[in-house]
This record gives sequence, structure tokens and C-alpha cells, in this order.
Amino acid sequence: MFTSEMLRELWKKFFINHGFKEIENASIIPENDPTVLFTTAGMHPLVPYLLGEPHPAGDKIFNVQRCLRTNDIDQVGDDSHLTLFEMLGCWTLGKCDKKEMIKLSFEFLTSKDYLNIPVERLAVTVFKGDETAPKDEEAFNAWEECGIKQIFYMSKKENWWGLGSGIGPCGPDSEMFYDTGKEKCCENCSPSCNCGKYLEIWNDVFMQYRIDEPNGQAQNLSRPNIDTGMGLERVVSVLNHKKSVYDYGVFKDVISLIEKNAKLKYEGDGKSKRSYRIIADHLKASTFILGDIKGVVPSNLGQGYILRRFIRRSINCARNIEFDSKYFKDIVDIYVDEYGKYYKDIESKRQFIKDELDKEISKFSKVIEDGHKEFEKVINGIEKHIQFAKLKGEIVERKISGKASFRLYDTFGFPFELTEELAKERGFMVSKDEFDEMFKEHQEKSRDQSDKVFKGGLADSSIQSAYLHTATHLLLAALQHFYGKNVVQKGSNITPDRLRFDFNLDHKMTSEEINNIEDFVNNVINQAIPVKCEIMSIDKAKENGAHGTFTDKYGQEVKVFTIGNISKEICGGPHAENTKQLNHFKIIKEESCASGIRRIKAILD
Ligand code: ALA
Repeated sequence: MFTSEMLRELWKKFFINHGFKEIENASIIPENDPTVLFTTAGMHPLVPYLLGEPHPAGDKIFNVQRCLRTNDIDQVGDDSHLTLFEMLGCWTLGKCDKKEMIKLSFEFLTSKDYLNIPVERLAVTVFKGDETAPKDEEAFNAWEECGIKQIFYMSKKENWWGLGSGIGPCGPDSEMFYDTGKEKCCENCSPSCNCGKYLEIWNDVFMQYRIDEPNGQAQNLSRPNIDTGMGLERVVSVLNHKKSVYDYGVFKDVISLIEKNAKLKYEGDGKSKRSYRIIADHLKASTFILGDIKGVVPSNLGQGYILRRFIRRSINCARNIEFDSKYFKDIVDIYVDEYGKYYKDIESKRQFIKDELDKEISKFSKVIEDGHKEFEKVINGIEKHIQFAKLKGEIVERKISGKASFRLYDTFGFPFELTEELAKERGFMVSKDEFDEMFKEHQEKSRDQSDKVFKGGLADSSIQSAYLHTATHLLLAALQHFYGKNVVQKGSNITPDRLRFDFNLDHKMTSEEINNIEDFVNNVINQAIPVKCEIMSIDKAKENGAHGTFTDKYGQEVKVFTIGNISKEICGGPHAENTKQLNHFKIIKEESCASGIRRIKAILD
């Protein structure tokens, strides 16, 4: 049995042996990035460094990053898709030595000391070139030199990384696949045909170009990078020759726990299996979100909304297989036992995670109650319509429309299965096809949106955002000046137009308090204080009284930004050079964001 722990260890050993430094794992909630709700890849927290900021740990770095993606949420339940996963990542910053990275990738995959995959079991894809960028012969040749026989040239769709806008840093990538040995599905069988012969295990992105206008020519980037990412769960399942990521380790334990307590069996039919897997996946994602330092709880907004959907969907799935949601807490325990050792907040928040789950379960019971009432209204409406039609000699079907069943689901959170069951009891028809059609329409709309959001993943690096970032540090300093040092940052999000800052405070701020905070910040701006950036060890930063998330890793280097004696924070930057560049600070909104948490929106004008 090849365990995920073994993979983590090997990854670490390999990159340390090759002179890379391990970097800290970022929160699952991105800092200062308005374009995405969650950290979606290992490269995501590294955007400032990929765009040229020096990284305190140097230019050869690696880690294992918790990631969450919701764009494939509807595929969760099949053999390989997960919302919460861990990505083994490694980066070279300011340097794109393709041949070297391909040699490293090959060594890790095939060496007896590491993954020991036979060469003939490997297949790779490389970019075939188009009118905007050349064929990636360098990557092809490097793989050929390693002795790989199955090398496929593919189009931009498969082998190109860039921003959704098509403008900005970009480059070809090279994906690595495990060949299961299955027969080819057709003459042109390749890693892109999804027949199950080839399973993706790793991706090397060569961020070597930039494109300056839509469909423009790729120009060489002055500071290129390499970004590589390997999905931990997928690789472990492939190395164990398992068909599905759910068939080993912690997922297997969760599935067994559910099976012990549910009426319907895992292998019963496709629908039960899917429900089991959705519960396993979504409760894992919920454990990671609730167990994150940022303290997100279920709500109707942003990350809180996604969390709410994860929990409610799990409750619906539990209903499908007649599994009592009181056991969700035991599932949380399995995940905390497994992941608490890698992510210490998860362990310390064990009880909090369970309590929040409990609260959401009771809230959802109320939703079901309200849904029942709404269902009655729908039925009464149709009954009246039928009677009225009868008077006119017309016949109307006893049927709940797709629109109505979808509204019950979408607006009231009422599961379709419940509508179906109640309709049957009352002698009404309801069409699953019509519901599915509405669902698909809605999904397409939201997928368009999430695609936009996801592909636009690179954080904004404009000058305005840098200034707002500095304003955020000053805002925290002002809040601590007036309310005490126990006020801490609970979340931050910056667009080029405004900053948004969440912090703990037990009351609504009065207009006088708001004025005081604005005056404090504007006073610092007017003093034209330089913003100083220093790289130092975490211990030194701690000693100097810097704010920020401290890690346990001994000797790790961090950046500390200091503004006179007003503010000292550990942070990745970028920032203004001098406070006078901020001009004038204004709070445009102060509101509640969660219990005991206030949210400020502010601008620089
Ligand atoms: N960032 C790259 C990916 O997500 C490695 O595939």
C-alpha cells in the first residue's frame, strides 16, 4: 500500500535534495484576491512572486498546498473529481529551465528511490504550436532524451496556461500521464480522449511568455517561471492501482463509517455510490473551510455560501441513502485525525467545526419546513387553476412545472426528491427532465461566471491595489490603536477600486469612531512615511513584534513591511513606497459580516 504520507515525504525529500526550500502552506481563503473565493492551486498564493516580487525563501521553492475548486462540483461523485484536494507543487522563480525541470520530473516519477513508475507506463503531452506561439520542441526533445516513447503534441486547449483574458503572463505546459495498460480505445487514442487508458498525474507549466493584446503574438517574458502541480489524491490512487480516489485511505474509512449506519449500500446502485462520495467529499471540504484560520461560517455570501451548499448537499445525499446526519460529526473526527497533523488549525478547531455543522443541520430543518409550506402554496395555486379551467370546459394537467420545482429547489433549498415524493402523495406529476433542464440552464450561467472567476485567478497587481494594500495595514493599525491589540484581521480583499477588511469587534461602529479611524489613517498618509520592506527570519519578525500569521517552521524567512512606528506586518506585498502616495483614505461602508465580525469597505480618493 502506497500512502499519501509516503508521497508527501518523498516529495519533500526529493526537492530538498535538489536544493529547493519548503514554503508555508497558505490559507484556503485567499488574501487580497477578489477574483476567486478559494485557493485553487499551489501557484495561487505565489502570484506576487510569479510576477516578479522576490520570494523570501529564494527562487527554488516547493510545498503541499490545500486547494479547493468548485468549477467541477457537478462531477464530484465520479471516480476522480474532488472539490478539496492537496497539490504537491514546486516552482523556479525568474528562471525557466525546461530541460532541467523535465529531467527532475522524470527522475521523481521513475527513480527507484521515489515513485518507481516504469518508463513505458508514462505518457506526456507538449504544446504543438499555433499562430501565436511556437511548437514546444524543447520540451519534446527533453522528454525524448529521458527515454519516453509516448509523447503527444497537443493544442492550446490542452497544453497552454494563461489568464482568462488571454493577456498577461502565459506559456505552454507539459502534462504527465500514467498509462494503465488498457487497450487503446481507437486508432487515435491519446491522453485527451478520456477513455481511462491515460490518467493525469502531474503538470509542468512553463510560464515563459507574455501576450499584450487579444490574440497577439507571445513575447518572451523577462522573468519567466516554472510552476508545477501534482494532485496528491489522484497520484496515490494511481500508484495503488485503484480505480477511484475514494477507494483507499481516509476516504475509505469515511465510506465504511457511512455504510455501517446507512440503510442503502455503497455498491447498491450508481445513485447511492454518488451520494456516499458527495458526503465524503463535501464534508472534507467543509472541515477544511471551517478549520481554516479565517473563520468562515455558513452564510449566504461568498465562501460562507459555498460552505452552506456543501453542508446542505451532504444532508440531501444523506437522506438519499437513509443516513442520519448526526453521524457527520464522526466523519469530521476522521478528517481531523488525518489532517490535523499537517494543518494545525484544523486540530484546534475540531469542536468549532462540529458545532457549526450542527447549527447548519438545524437551520436546514427549518428550510425543509418552509419548503413544505411553499410546496402547499404551489399545489393550491394549481388546484385553483384546475377548477377555474374546468368551469370554462378546459382540462389542465395535475402537474408541477419544471420552473416551480426548480424554484423550490433554488430559492427554498428544497430538494427535488422531496418535491417528487410529496407530489406523488398528492396525485400530482412532476417532471425530472424539466427540472434537469432548468438546472442545466442555471448551471451554465453559473459555470460561465465561475470560469470567468477561476481563469482570472491571477491577482491584480496594479499600483492602485498596492496602495490599497498599504492602506489596509494602516487601517489595522488604526483599529488596534482605538480598540486594542486584540483586534485582528479576519479577512481582506482588494480590487483596484476599494479595499475590504474584516475584523473582530463586538459592536457597530459609531460615525464618530469611523471619523477617528479615517483621521488616524489620513494623518499617517500626510506624514509621508516611507514603507520599508525587510526580509528576516520568522523568529526575528516575532521578536520585532510584527503582526501576521506565524508558522512553526524554524528558520523560515519572511518579508516584513514597516511603516514608521505605526505598523509592522508580515506580508508578501506589493506596497506603496511612501504613505503620501495614498493621498486620502475614506471609509464608504461599515457593516456586520458575521457574528462578532465587522466589515469595512474603504477607498483612496
Ligand atoms: N498550476 C498548475 C495547475 O493547476 C500546475 O495545473
